[in-house]
Amino acid sequence: MSRCLQGKHILLGLTGGIACYKSAELVRLLVREGADVHVLMTPAAQQFLTPLTLQSLSGNSVATDLFSLSEELHVGHIRLADLADAYLIAPATADVVAKLAHGNADDVVTTVALATRAPLLVAPSMNVNMYEHPAVQENLERLARRGVRVIPAAEGELACGWHGKGRLAEPPVLLAEVERAVTPPVFAGERIVVTAGPTREFLDPVRFLTNRSSGKMGFALAAAAWRRGAEVMLVSGPVSLPTPHGVARRNVVSAAEMYEAVADEFSRATMLVMCAAVADYRPAVCQPTKVKKQSKGWTLELQPTIDILASLKPQKGNRFVVGFAAETDQVEEFGREKLERKGLDLVVANDVSRPEAGMEADMNAAILLDRFGGRIELPLMNKADLAEAILDRIAELRQRTA
Ligand code: CTP
Repeated sequence: MSRCLQGKHILLGLTGGIACYKSAELVRLLVREGADVHVLMTPAAQQFLTPLTLQSLSGNSVATDLFSLSEELHVGHIRLADLADAYLIAPATADVVAKLAHGNADDVVTTVALATRAPLLVAPSMNVNMYEHPAVQENLERLARRGVRVIPAAEGELACGWHGKGRLAEPPVLLAEVERAVTPPVFAGERIVVTAGPTREFLDPVRFLTNRSSGKMGFALAAAAWRRGAEVMLVSGPVSLPTPHGVARRNVVSAAEMYEAVADEFSRATMLVMCAAVADYRPAVCQPTKVKKQSKGWTLELQPTIDILASLKPQKGNRFVVGFAAETDQVEEFGREKLERKGLDLVVANDVSRPEAGMEADMNAAILLDRFGGRIELPLMNKADLAEAILDRIAELRQRTA
């Protein structure tokens, strides 16, 4: 996880729906990420969860009443509104969506929505027929046009017995949205292609050549780039990781398929971050049926795959292109050589011979070498933090190239 919520003041407004229980889980997640969480509840929300539950989880008193002498004495609703770095209303009922769309302010949740200048996020939750009703959809569109981030309801079983769209987005999705809302959108307008994971080069229908890449670094980069406002396309080899919220994904298997997908996406991209561990060789022939065991050995003939980065060099234009250099020795020398040969703006060189770092591990260290002669050494850290540090550097260098 990123550290973007450390010390941030997050307001969470609850309105009357059964999905309030998910918001309790969200408070826990926000607190775990270091946020200072202040919960606001309408009277209807208090029918589903008690303020005491949310006070215990958040560690802050819960605002329930505009006119409570004691609440207004401690942290008044205007002070709450001023304090906020982001304000999420989840679950938002059809009634509250309508009130927000029209600027009504008859309880603490809607009043603070008008009073705050912080980014406002609204996560609706209701019965499918209500959600699809033109009145609700028009109200949501009105909010979105006004710059409110509307987090669409998810599809599935609804507490009312119906199946369809109307479920409150899951807590990890709400968390990712809040993280994005408090992150400066330095990559707004960028369309970034990130590649991740290994490729597989088949010998026959059941056997293949591959490498140890887990995809963790590329997935962390994709999530962090989305948080910073980019539109992100993740081109992934076979890995067992969930797609980060907000990120589009294309799955590929072989180096040839990865080339096809990246070349296609590259034409629409403004940046490419080539984190995948693409196979350099593939078997000269892939047998159509499973090769039977024989007493004599099996000598494989391998042929080179296409070098994706090198092949895109002539079309680079003013796109920002980042390569990775996974090395076991002479890390910096080989990294610099790849920077030149592949026409990159930045290379992330890392030593994959260290047992605690690199492929498969949760941690990594790297040296960032750029085409302006810059060199930054990033010590061992978890891959999420490393992704943030790499993107910080890309954002700095991007200003010189855009
Ligand atoms: N790469 C690529 N196409 C390939 C192989 C690698 O685009 N067929 C990219 C990788 O995604 C990475 C960079 O090139 O961003 C360097 O990959 P690496 O495997 O370290 O270098 P190679 O060029 O394969 O050279 P070598 O194996 O000799 O180190």
